[in-house]
Amino acid sequence: MSTVDFEIWLNHFEHHDQHPSAVPPGLSDVLRPHERRLIARSIATFQLGEQSDGRHLMRAAQHFALARRVPALARIAELLIREERRHAAMLSVFMEEHRIARKSTDWTDRVFRFLRRLSGLEGYLHVLISAELIGIVYYRALEAATDCQRLKALCRVLVADELAHVGFESQLLLALRAERPAALQTLVRLAHRAFLTGTAVVVWLTHRPVLRRAGYGARSFLGACRSQHAFHLDPLNVGPSDFDLLSKTP
Ligand SMILES: [Fe+2]
Ligand SMILES: [Fe+2]
Repeated sequence: MSTVDFEIWLNHFEHHDQHPSAVPPGLSDVLRPHERRLIARSIATFQLGEQSDGRHLMRAAQHFALARRVPALARIAELLIREERRHAAMLSVFMEEHRIARKSTDWTDRVFRFLRRLSGLEGYLHVLISAELIGIVYYRALEAATDCQRLKALCRVLVADELAHVGFESQLLLALRAERPAALQTLVRLAHRAFLTGTAVVVWLTHRPVLRRAGYGARSFLGACRSQHAFHLDPLNVGPSDFDLLSKTP
């Protein structure tokens, strides 16, 4: 665990907790009817995904912190859960002010919640980070798909926070992976890449209108999600084209 900078990450999350990212006031907040129709169901699904009581993550983190003697991890998990709740709240306020109905359930959300609970911290993080990596691509696409300045800024805030979550979780997952025999490392890497690809296909199929408006086709969207995965969790296999896909929408 020496390769994970727990103290640095703890400082990061404590700082963010005291100075949470926010959308600057005074931005234009016009969401035209056709945009509202385009994004309503899609943004409601992501808002639902940001909501979590965090009980399972908290339990898994506490168990791991005790077993590995890294007390900072339990506090980091607590702060990370709080930041996710802030994301859910920010999206919820935006939706409410634009008369977009919230969702109380969605089959993709139920599947994710079920999978996250199947195993300990490592399994939980593999599922969580998949959603976050794809979420980064999605929020960038949503930013590109709308002319609403407030929504654009909200997307940027979410992406910035999620990049930090992914940074921390990938460091921890890579450290855990490195403890395994080489053959098992390869298996875990490939299995996670397959899971991320499958999840990205589902997100493409269920959020196509927004992603298409941003300029994505199925192939370029999957490529962008896989580049995020390669950059953070498969660093030895990042090709030059992955860098092109990392920071922009088509
Ligand atoms: Fe989030
Ligand atoms: Fe996150």
